This record gives sequence, C-alpha cells and structure tokens, in this order.
Amino acid sequence: MIKKIITSSPAETYQFGKNLANKLKGGETMGLIGNLGSGKTTLVKGLAKGLGIKQTITSPTFVLMKVYKTKHKTIKQLVHVDCYRVPGIELETIGLSDYLNQPDTVVAIEWAEKIPKKFKMTIKLQFKTKNKSNERFIKLIKLL
Ligand SMILES: Nc1ncnc2c1ncn2[C@@H]1O[C@H](COP(=O)(O)OP(=O)(O)OP(=O)(O)O)[C@@H](O)[C@H]1O
Ligand SMILES: [Mg+2]
Repeated sequence: MIKKIITSSPAETYQFGKNLANKLKGGETMGLIGNLGSGKTTLVKGLAKGLGIKQTITSPTFVLMKVYKTKHKTIKQLVHVDCYRVPGIELETIGLSDYLNQPDTVVAIEWAEKIPKKFKMTIKLQFKTKNKSNERFIKLIKLL
C-alpha cells in the first residue's frame, strides 16, 4: 500500500501523523527518511498526540532513543529513535531490538536509512522538500 500526500504547513504534517496513529495496530517499525528539517519529528509529534501521549516530544538526536508511555488501549509505548549520528553498533547497546515487533509498542526511527538492514521496517515514510517552500511531499509505504 502506498499513500502520498503533500502538506503545506507543520500543522498539516502533525495532523497527518495524528491520523496515522488511528491506523496502527502495534508492533510497527516506522522508518522516517528525509533531509534535515523535512518534517520527520513533526510527524512523530502528531503520532504521539494521536496515541494519547501527554509529554512533549523532543528530538532524540543526542539521546538516540526515547520511550513514551501512551494512553492508547493496546499500544502501550512509542519508541522514538534518531539515527542521524548513530552507527549500527550503538543501537545494539541501547537495546533497540527489545522494542521491535512487540504488539504493545510502535517504533519510529528517523534517519532509518543509516542503520543496518537487519532492522526491518514495516512502514516507510519518505519526506521530500521542494526549494524553500513549506510544502512537504510525504510518501507512506507499507512494507509488511
Ligand atoms: N509542511 C511542513 N511540514 C513539516 N514541517 C514544516 C512544514 N513546512 C515547514 N516546516 C518546518 O520544517 C521544520 C521541520 O522540522 P522537523 O524537526 O520536523 O524536521 P526533521 O525531519 O525531524 O529534521 P531532522 O533531520 O533535523 O531531525 C520545522 O522548522 C517546521 O516549522
Ligand atoms: Mg528530527
């Protein structure tokens, strides 16, 4: 399944993420791919809102991974990972594998293209920007 949308503001990307939360079953690994400032974190913020997370989502660029408890019925936690600066080995150290394919967990990974192929994504989200405009082309591909 492929879905393509164009958003014109951060609010629209946020809303797209929020709507996406309703479609998740749990156990998904979402790879978010796209340049700096293309809207990956903005989408995760919306996703978190849709899952009923009250905390503020901040970019995990320096801590690599953050785990948030949700208020969702079946999905109990959202794991937000940022691989911008991460070699694969660090993902082993921080225990990412423990969170993958767990029915009560959704994992969202920014810069997923930088990590080893053995971390299988079930959903890929590609972000593209055009010039300096606020438009973001977002392509969602369901892989599994
Ligand atoms: N349509 C849009 N959707 C999302 N963000 C937008 C949009 N238009 C403009 N922006 C701006 O682009 C930036 C997106 O930032 P965000 O942190 O979400 O990107 P990112 O892909 O996570 O970047 P990084 O790779 O640095 O983590 C924000 O400054 C936001 O205000
Ligand atoms: Mg980000």
